[in-house]
Amino acid sequence: MIKRISLLVISSLIFGACSNEPKEVVEEPQEPAYATPIHSFAQPNKAVVKHLNLDVAVDFESKAISGLAAYDIEVTKGENRIVFDTRNLTIKEVRVDGIITKNWWLGPEKEFMGVPLEVEVGDTSNQVAIEYATTEGAEALQWLNPQQTAGKEHPFLFTQSQAILARTWLPCQDSPGIRYTYEATVKVPTDLMALMSATNPTEIDSTGVYHFEMKQPIPSYLMALTVGDLRFAPIGEETGVYAEPSVLESAAYEFADMQKMLESAEALYGKYAWERYDVIVLPPSFPFGGMENPRLTFATPTILAGDRSLTALVAHELAHSWSGNLVTNSTWNDFWLNEGFTVYFERRIMEDVYGKDYANILAILGWQDLQHTLEEFSDKPNDTKLKLDLDNRDPDDGMSDIAYEKGYYLLRTLEDNVGREKFDVFLKNHFTGNAFKTMTTEQFLTNLKSQLLDGSDEKYAELKVKQWVYEPGIPSNVVEVESPLFAQVEAQLDSFLASGNAATIDTTNWTTHQWLHFLRKMPSEVSQENLAALDKTFGFTKTGNSEIAAEWFVLAIENSYAPADGAIEEFLIRVGRRKFLTPIYGALVAADPSMERAKAIYIKARPNYHSVSTNTLDAMLNM
Ligand code: BES
Ligand code: ZN
Repeated sequence: MIKRISLLVISSLIFGACSNEPKEVVEEPQEPAYATPIHSFAQPNKAVVKHLNLDVAVDFESKAISGLAAYDIEVTKGENRIVFDTRNLTIKEVRVDGIITKNWWLGPEKEFMGVPLEVEVGDTSNQVAIEYATTEGAEALQWLNPQQTAGKEHPFLFTQSQAILARTWLPCQDSPGIRYTYEATVKVPTDLMALMSATNPTEIDSTGVYHFEMKQPIPSYLMALTVGDLRFAPIGEETGVYAEPSVLESAAYEFADMQKMLESAEALYGKYAWERYDVIVLPPSFPFGGMENPRLTFATPTILAGDRSLTALVAHELAHSWSGNLVTNSTWNDFWLNEGFTVYFERRIMEDVYGKDYANILAILGWQDLQHTLEEFSDKPNDTKLKLDLDNRDPDDGMSDIAYEKGYYLLRTLEDNVGREKFDVFLKNHFTGNAFKTMTTEQFLTNLKSQLLDGSDEKYAELKVKQWVYEPGIPSNVVEVESPLFAQVEAQLDSFLASGNAATIDTTNWTTHQWLHFLRKMPSEVSQENLAALDKTFGFTKTGNSEIAAEWFVLAIENSYAPADGAIEEFLIRVGRRKFLTPIYGALVAADPSMERAKAIYIKARPNYHSVSTNTLDAMLNM
């Protein structure tokens, strides 16, 4: 951009000076509009999609989505090809400007990338329509039978497109750097509701046909669809929740503060750009905690703790409406721009709604996660850089706590140094000035230096920004976060370990996060008596709080605490959230390297998991 402006200035100086000379046509070297995609076959500088009109039917019998993806396109002068990403799709027919063409080709398959679909176009072509169907290999999709839902009567479908799975359920230019608007017509069984990352219905339509519109341009990883026996409950003016009927009430209770969160987010970093913000609570096999699909966050039911203690996740997905959905990482190598900013923003929302102590507690737990990941990655230090190098790798491999928590700690360290007021002005400008654009790490660093650090190379060096971004590990200038609430927990833990008496320690008013700290600070070897005493007093094995359960189960496995065995197996069969599965299966494997128990449970549980989780666990358990 900067280069282009200076060339313009120079050429107008030369040619503007002598106005009666015949005007020469100056060929300006144009910077390409799009950065080269890394995990996509698309060549957006040659031909790019601008709008999608999707018309599909969802068939639960054959477990397939099929229909037409019609794209409005822009072809650069002199170009005659447009390339789409597909993976495990059946392509039936292609039309260019309404006319069936035979001039399209599927390229060779590349591992995890899929197959490029190349279509011959003219440089004045406006539309490419692709008739297609998904296959069993559609890794974005999870088709649930009624037994896997809360209501047990209706089937359920959801998509998970991030990072590069959108191409498994529709042909698309699947790069975060390519945005388009969309409309969709989706036909589903007449007793079910369909929802997308778009305008949504609030009631079941007995025709089974739903229309959607997404007026703001989005990248394909934010394409989302879910179908099930769903109901809606409003929370605030612009916020609400969708869930299966039997889950709706507890979901509405849990997310009561959503409207407040939205208002606090807007007060921090500018107007919400997507009109409505709703959350859908999916069945427990959803592989993530949450997914920031625009207008409609997809969420795991494992955050329904009954006491609203796990709703930082809603603040997180809401924050993505700015960091990620509005200003989007250019490639998955820049993933920290999405997630690090979102964690920072999430904790600012939580601070605003629940206070500084609450936010700091989340930050400390995040710091613990970060230390854990750094240890785990000691043999692959490159993956602890903020700017990743995922070329020729599955982007899923690089997506770790580094982007989230190292990213958070960089931003918090910057805030600490320049002061909150200045930092907030900078961040607000970052979001408003780059709305609906993509950003590379390098662009961000340029802005950081010029806008936040007054262009000062010294400050930039002093803050070790380059080291934070391009080198492994955590630089020495990281801010330290402490909390009196955690000091209190540590004191009670010490007293328990000294006495073995769980009933006499003071846990009055402890929150979920204090319990988590308590369990995390437990020594790795705990006696059977102590485990039994804790379990008897605090009921960990039976807890309905998934975060506490997952932490406790790891401790129980590490110490062969048999009374938890049944609950562990039940949890692993019911819940498909990868963040919980990996440490629990990991503990099972560590406790028994023959993997007998881990595999026995996995065989029963695997049919309930989404591909995101089975891909990780298959590798871990050599299945
Ligand atoms: N966008 C992510 C989920 C994701 C990341 C999906 C990478 C696919 C690839 C989402 O916003 C997220 O970060 N979810 C977290 C929740 C959170 C509170 C940190 C999760 O699922 O645990
Ligand atoms: Zn996120």
